[in-house]
Amino acid sequence: MKNKYSFFCIVCFLSFSLSGQQVTIPIETQNTAVVLQTDNHKRLKIIYTGKTLKEKSEYAETGKMLHLQSQGAASNNNAYAVAGIDNNFTEPAIAVVHADGNNSLDLLYESHTTSASTDGATLTIVTLRDPVYPFVVELNYKAWGKEDVIEQWSSISHSEEGDVILNKYASANLYLYNKDYFLTSYNGSWAREMQPVVTPLRQGMHTIESRLGTRENLLTSPNFMLSLDGEATETSGTVMMGQIAWNGNFSLQFETDVYKNLHLVAGINPYQSAYRLRPNTPFETPRFIYTISYEGKGRGSRNLQRWLRDHALLDGHGDRLTLLNNWEATYFDFDQEKLVSLFSGAKELGVDLFLLDDGWFANKYPRNNDKAGLGDWEVNRSKLPDGIPYLVREAEKAGVKFGIWIEPEMVNPKSALYENHPDWVIRQENRPEIYFRNQLVLDLTNPEVQDFVFDVVDRLFTENPSLAFIKWDCNAPIFNGHSKYLEREEIPQSHLYVEYTRGLDNVLQRVREKYPTVPMMLCSGGGGRSDYSLLHYFTEFWLSDNTDPLERVFMQWDYSYYYPAIAMCNHVTDWSKDISLKYRIDVASMGKLGFDIRANELSDQDMAFTQQTIINYNEFKEIVWHGEMYRLASPYENDIASLMYINKDKTEGVIFNYLTNRRYLAEPSLRPVKLQGLDKEKRYRLTEINLYEGNPTPIDHRKVYTGEFLMNVGFNPSVNSSRSSVVVKIETAG
Ligand code: DGJ
Repeated sequence: MKNKYSFFCIVCFLSFSLSGQQVTIPIETQNTAVVLQTDNHKRLKIIYTGKTLKEKSEYAETGKMLHLQSQGAASNNNAYAVAGIDNNFTEPAIAVVHADGNNSLDLLYESHTTSASTDGATLTIVTLRDPVYPFVVELNYKAWGKEDVIEQWSSISHSEEGDVILNKYASANLYLYNKDYFLTSYNGSWAREMQPVVTPLRQGMHTIESRLGTRENLLTSPNFMLSLDGEATETSGTVMMGQIAWNGNFSLQFETDVYKNLHLVAGINPYQSAYRLRPNTPFETPRFIYTISYEGKGRGSRNLQRWLRDHALLDGHGDRLTLLNNWEATYFDFDQEKLVSLFSGAKELGVDLFLLDDGWFANKYPRNNDKAGLGDWEVNRSKLPDGIPYLVREAEKAGVKFGIWIEPEMVNPKSALYENHPDWVIRQENRPEIYFRNQLVLDLTNPEVQDFVFDVVDRLFTENPSLAFIKWDCNAPIFNGHSKYLEREEIPQSHLYVEYTRGLDNVLQRVREKYPTVPMMLCSGGGGRSDYSLLHYFTEFWLSDNTDPLERVFMQWDYSYYYPAIAMCNHVTDWSKDISLKYRIDVASMGKLGFDIRANELSDQDMAFTQQTIINYNEFKEIVWHGEMYRLASPYENDIASLMYINKDKTEGVIFNYLTNRRYLAEPSLRPVKLQGLDKEKRYRLTEINLYEGNPTPIDHRKVYTGEFLMNVGFNPSVNSSRSSVVVKIETAG
């Protein structure tokens, strides 16, 4: 859903100063200021990005401490770098061809406004105009004060006598005057999502981008972390963390220039995406969202997590449902009786909901494997003769809610949908089709296809008003990008990637207008989608099909830099049965807990243990979902991983500890783990929970420690090979 603002101008002259023709515009959060200033030619420069200053008038002086005028490169710090005038040698944020064929652009400061929005942020809009062409760019800076988060985007328009071609149209252009930049970006593929890679940026261009069209997080994540002034730790150093919030082809360009300053250009990937802009129809870019922490990565991620819960994630302050999913328990091999028999397992475990996964639909080409049926969203009559309403009723009778999987943007060529509407499919008619998981992508640029996708959801809810959950999957990227609809409408094919993303946004807006609260999981053939723009519509997302708990310790660690635990779906599965059930449940409890197991095959002892852990989870989930998270010991640097969550009052928390190195030489208990986020004056008691029957704990819950002790000396959870997973409740004593 789009944010709606109602503005009133709170600052007319206080936030900027005019000295002669020079205008200074500080964009401020509680701790960070980005300062823009015009030069003598009215070009807008970025003269400072760093800590806020108390003495606001001094912002105007910050640029004077820089000496960029030498070597003819005075334009490196442009607030929105242009292509096509000769004093800019850096990567452009915008490149255009005017209606008359001219490809130059100059953008001069015209005006700016600063206003408060009803949602508590401050929006600064700076208008830049070409002195020769009627071409305007508005730079938007939305500053979230106490959250310390800035959103940047641009709005591009013109009133030329004809269309303008936008060859590049970035959301944001930053310029940082720090030293020793270390970029953390994320590599991936199926079941290997979010693998961190640290690159020192020393010279030239480093680009992080997606060209997949959909499921942008699969090979590269839109998230990034940039240590400024040397590598940041969890608790020290200056670090910028954020994301380009675009569920489509994105590009993050990091250009280290001759001054060793860093020019960052973020936005839609211009790859195959020249955009024909009609006169007087503004093009709004997606948002580039970031925070800067001066106290290391921990603070940075808490800023983003809080901001997401407060302002981006759907129902960020709400509740979530624990669930039992049947995907790994049955795959496509189920029928009505089998499913109904699983409902009682969900109830017995003590979860809230049963989630029916892939395989429930299609008749002409039944969905019995991933080769057929996708697109034919009528219930498969031989597997489920009494339909979905019967399953919903039976689940409710068994005492659990019912949810369902869909993948409505996709189609198998072996489907009635494909046969009836080949022109609804993204494909090149004159070339062989290329499949990803035997499927193709529907053409969401086409309003008829948007209606179709909306109807898939709408029909499910109309038929089953008490349907309680949707898992929305998306497995294929766009191959052979060509749209019959765009062709018919005489819209350039180079609009395909942008209009696909906008089409999906339209559908999701309609879904949320009609069904505002029902929880929906964003899934994408594993964790292919997790951008902040889509999370406006979803309550949670699926990180990866890789549910090996040891891998998950690492993967959840990396996702946690950018997302709050309440948004992260972690399921206990049989992916790695050699790792104990306890370890698997403990790891999955650091987020939104679910199960994808054959509950009826659990031994009595395992069932009793699982039931108890779910009871425990229900007791501490509020803290994990809505509290503050601290990463204490990194699995990348230690033989253990330790993380804790603590409530806002610092009175109750939960600490998770895992053995991550099974070598004989590993020394998991060598040192205590220093806790964080406690009140040093308060006294705390530590109690181990999720103990498997018969396993005693060395942790004495009668002992009481001060917050000061626990944060300075630390606490030893005694992790070892027979205690490979240790969950400890912490609460104030007396
Ligand atoms: C990919 C998802 O990541 C899985 O969880 C499962 O829903 C399958 N798709 C179903 O086809």
